[in-house]
Amino acid sequence: HMDTMPQMSNMSTDCQGASGVAIPIASLHAPETAAHIAEFTLTAQYAHLPFFAKDQGDAWTFNGTSPGPTLRVRQGDLVVVHLRNRLSAGVTIHWHGVAVPNVADGVAGVTQDAVKPGETYTYRFVAKDAGTYWYHSHQESFEQTGHGLYGVLIVDPAKPSVHDDVDVPLALHTWNGTLAVNMTTGRQRIEAKPGQWVRLRLVETDNTPHLVTLAGVPFLVAALDGHDLHEPTPLTKVPLVVDGGQRYDLRFQVPQSGAAALYIASDENGPYQKTPAVVIGSEGAAVAPVPAVGPKEFDFTTYGQPKPDAITAKSHFDVTYTITLNYTFGFSNGRPGPVFTLDGQSFPNTPMLMVKEGQLVRLRFVNEGNAGIHPMHLHGHTFTVVTKNGRALSGSPVRLDTISLRPGESYDVAFYADNPGLWMIHCHNLYHANHGMDMMLAYP
Ligand code: C2O
Ligand code: CU
Repeated sequence: HMDTMPQMSNMSTDCQGASGVAIPIASLHAPETAAHIAEFTLTAQYAHLPFFAKDQGDAWTFNGTSPGPTLRVRQGDLVVVHLRNRLSAGVTIHWHGVAVPNVADGVAGVTQDAVKPGETYTYRFVAKDAGTYWYHSHQESFEQTGHGLYGVLIVDPAKPSVHDDVDVPLALHTWNGTLAVNMTTGRQRIEAKPGQWVRLRLVETDNTPHLVTLAGVPFLVAALDGHDLHEPTPLTKVPLVVDGGQRYDLRFQVPQSGAAALYIASDENGPYQKTPAVVIGSEGAAVAPVPAVGPKEFDFTTYGQPKPDAITAKSHFDVTYTITLNYTFGFSNGRPGPVFTLDGQSFPNTPMLMVKEGQLVRLRFVNEGNAGIHPMHLHGHTFTVVTKNGRALSGSPVRLDTISLRPGESYDVAFYADNPGLWMIHCHNLYHANHGMDMMLAYP
């Protein structure tokens, strides 16, 4: 059985926290309301996509494409999504990075049961925060997201601070061993005129980090995980490492001559694919050639300008949990193999983190392993990164929902416990999550 959460299926109605307190999940949230309703239907269905040879079977899709339809809503909208399941396996939808009410979190065996073949389920949440998010199945996540059950969710700000003439979501995903953008390998062109502002919303749906850069134009990293950075400074051909679950919003002005080009590499060390994944400009404009992988990798801890933030390294934290990340060999899903651990344990033996509503909670992630990169994701909240390897950030305040740790690295992240429920914390290398790297955060 390959579920991310194989042992949790008996926990769907009430949950025994570490303190022994039963948390009645269903009573946590009153129905959400808003002036405007954005309503969608997503049908989980098989589709034979051009990427596959005739004998290779079908992708698993929402509405017949992968990524599924881009859901575009306005900040403050009530989002209502009807999931219809036409696959032969149970599915759910998790709204990655969105502070949904716990009941809409889409975690099979925790906040709902998987939606069975032929059945329908409705998600409702108010889109409180603007930004680039994504959705994916959270039943057998490793398998189902890998097979194509994901899409992009864009929440447009109620009061935009900048204007983009062209705005395009780009989902990075590996198909048949080849990294592709929106299921296309090789050049795709986005029409844009010289001087126009372009926003590219990169969404990493794979399990291991990829390398991305933009050539032919200076660009800004405008947002990480959907949250704006303060006064970003222009970069040129600087390699960006984008890890599983993360989003990067890039902005730039189309150059007066020539076309900008997005280059990608499956391996975080490169080299880039020779053909650009995406070209942005007018038809026939000269395309910026593939760059060598530059020495200076984008460092979000020093990027942008400092700005006062509600949470800093000097804040008073009501509670701090240290979570060590590692791996070992053992039994997982009944077979010998790698086991990925949090605090030396694999799920479901990992500790449950208990907090109280209103607390400022600090999580200290420490990657103790000598191999393995772990993009750690927290459901239902956005956290502020307060320190890296014990040092406060010197650039813009950074708010993320997924923080990537290389061997030996540590990060402190902090958030207000303002969204009660039972929330997962897990590695977004979904293979690792599938092999033990999950824990729960709980507060009534
Ligand atoms: Cu995008 Cu629990 O995951
Ligand atoms: Cu991991």
